[in-house]
Amino acid sequence: MADQDEQLKKIIAHAKEYGFVYPSSEIYDGLSATYDYGPLGSELKNNIKSFWWKSMVQYHENVVGIDAAIFMHPKTWKASGHIDAFNDPLIDNKDSKKRYRADVLVEEWVQKIEKKIQKEVDKAAKRFGDAFDETQFRNTNDRVLANLEKIDGANERFKTAMEQNDLADIKQLIIDLDIADPLSGSKNWTDVRQFNLMFSTEMGSTAEGADTVYLRPETAQGIFVNFLNVQKTARMKIPFGIAQIGKAFRNEIIARQFIFRMREFEQMEMQFFVRPGEELEWYEKWKKERLKWHHAIGIAKERYRFHDHTNLAHYANAATDIEYEFPFGFKELEGIHSRTDFDLKKHQEFSGKKLQYFDPEIGENYVPYVVETSIGLDRMFLAVLSHSYGQETLEDGSQRMVMRIPHFLAPYKVAVLPLLKKDGLPEKAREVLGELKFDYNCQYDEKDAIGKRYRRQDAIGTPFCITVDHQSLEDNTVTLRDRDSMQQERVSIAVLQQLLREKVTAPKLN
Ligand code: GAP
Repeated sequence: MADQDEQLKKIIAHAKEYGFVYPSSEIYDGLSATYDYGPLGSELKNNIKSFWWKSMVQYHENVVGIDAAIFMHPKTWKASGHIDAFNDPLIDNKDSKKRYRADVLVEEWVQKIEKKIQKEVDKAAKRFGDAFDETQFRNTNDRVLANLEKIDGANERFKTAMEQNDLADIKQLIIDLDIADPLSGSKNWTDVRQFNLMFSTEMGSTAEGADTVYLRPETAQGIFVNFLNVQKTARMKIPFGIAQIGKAFRNEIIARQFIFRMREFEQMEMQFFVRPGEELEWYEKWKKERLKWHHAIGIAKERYRFHDHTNLAHYANAATDIEYEFPFGFKELEGIHSRTDFDLKKHQEFSGKKLQYFDPEIGENYVPYVVETSIGLDRMFLAVLSHSYGQETLEDGSQRMVMRIPHFLAPYKVAVLPLLKKDGLPEKAREVLGELKFDYNCQYDEKDAIGKRYRRQDAIGTPFCITVDHQSLEDNTVTLRDRDSMQQERVSIAVLQQLLREKVTAPKLN
């Protein structure tokens, strides 16, 4: 745990030092759970967005994109259920004065018991060696079974209490599970109360005439209300998808872990509209497709896993999270939900407008079912940062800090460096820069010794450095240095374009 905290602290410090992410309005001591992206951060963020947009919209004939407004008619949020039910159950510890989400406390308790089970399994695997049958052990071992029963009991009780809005029983559950404040160890809890996560403001010039409007807590509703506009104007036939990237806002009460949980964040969402009855097939397809997208980035596959939901929201008939192993453990990175026809039907009901599709193949009108993929851009950014961050000891014993950002996502693809600041080398280097800068984001740097400049590029994740030296003036060749291997090769300036294209182009997913 201490190591994990240490690792996250190092990543946060590095992100600030090099201009990836800053605390928002830092000169006023920052604003909790809001962050600004610096010069390198905004490049990296744009590269992630572009990869998502291309993979989802450009590479799928049956997916189109939109950019809906953040403000929406207030009835939208009544219809979607956010006004009545987009709440977190909160509880305070009276001694530490710290506030927690009751569901998170229960979830962490479940994880603790799951760890105990895993310990039993690992111990038995060691004892029995090759003859060990894990499934059989999990199904028959008394201690494992007793712990599983405890988990099921707690989950079931929490679910029922939430459905019945029985906040007293949620508090009792926390007491019965003997959950202590993770920071102080105190078990002196207040009552649980519901807290709505939407930010509101007023639209209109006078207080009397003003309407309460909300900052959207998800981008999805902008897609639902535009379903017919898009279907008709883009002449889409079911099955088809509508994708969107945009800001969302949630008044998160417990906002820790850097950009993992923010009050203002960005989502990349896609709603895929299908014929009723075909939604589970599409849900499985999108699960596979989305995992393929993550794997294509080049981060180790073991750092991803699915977490299928057993407690489904009332509008979903299947749901899973793609979890990523952040420095603080496996946590939700993306959600994939089969949302049935809940949202479109609700908007039909509240707007009085039909949101139906006439399916020429079967000659029927229906409200389509929806499969949603929803990923947090900032969480993806943190996944890339934490995958990339590394400190290495080199053969000569010196330390190097290197950000192994996947090449196609790196803020700068290449740095052009004259070996010396004289003898015509800067001029030659600028010539090379001029040939590359229209296709690749390049950095030019002539300050300090070459070794120091390489280290600087390693620390910001630039995959390649091109060094222009005296030989370049004679034969039009340069050295190309690879960030990861630190190997250098002599190449002709004429082939740089082609070489870089092979090395830094984003994967093309089919
Ligand atoms: N439209 C569905 C929806 O909004 P969600 O699970 O609440 O579902 C989807 O959010 C994704 O948005 C999450 O998987 C996560 O990556 C991201 N997300 C949610 N809340 C966030 C927050 N406070 N800060 C950063 N990212 C967040």
